[in-house]
Amino acid sequence: MAEFDITVNGKNLTVDVDQTTPLLWVLRDHLKLAGTKFGCGIAQCGACTVHLNGNAVRSCQIPISAVQENEVTTIEGLSENGDHPVQMAWLEHDVPQCGYCQAGQIMSASALLKSNPNPSDEEIDTAMNGNICRCGTYVRIKAAIKTASK
Ligand code: FES
Repeated sequence: MAEFDITVNGKNLTVDVDQTTPLLWVLRDHLKLAGTKFGCGIAQCGACTVHLNGNAVRSCQIPISAVQENEVTTIEGLSENGDHPVQMAWLEHDVPQCGYCQAGQIMSASALLKSNPNPSDEEIDTAMNGNICRCGTYVRIKAAIKTASK
């Protein structure tokens, strides 16, 4: 075990964990930020997507030792009142079905629009390619991203 100073959703925190602990489990088990989900654990599904310095990353594959000095943002910190443009577009298009993957979808979409405010269809497909939805909400996800990009 070792102490790691991390910044999550704008708060400076210290966690005492094994250095190989994935960021996902620090968020969920130690910080009780359960909006970030576990799906596959091998960077294949996107359910665990968070922002690291504004970029979408798979938190299941990032050890806590690689997180120090970096800014982590989770779905809980994306906006103060759930009113990020992507979240508003998600509501407008009634995107979720079971909902399990949606936090990861929103984190990937919001990172895309931050770096590319007006992405093409192909750019949306490429950016969202790693976020799997078993319910098949892809059409609504794409529509919501287009709404949020306007
Ligand atoms: Fe991390 Fe699936 S749980 S990508």
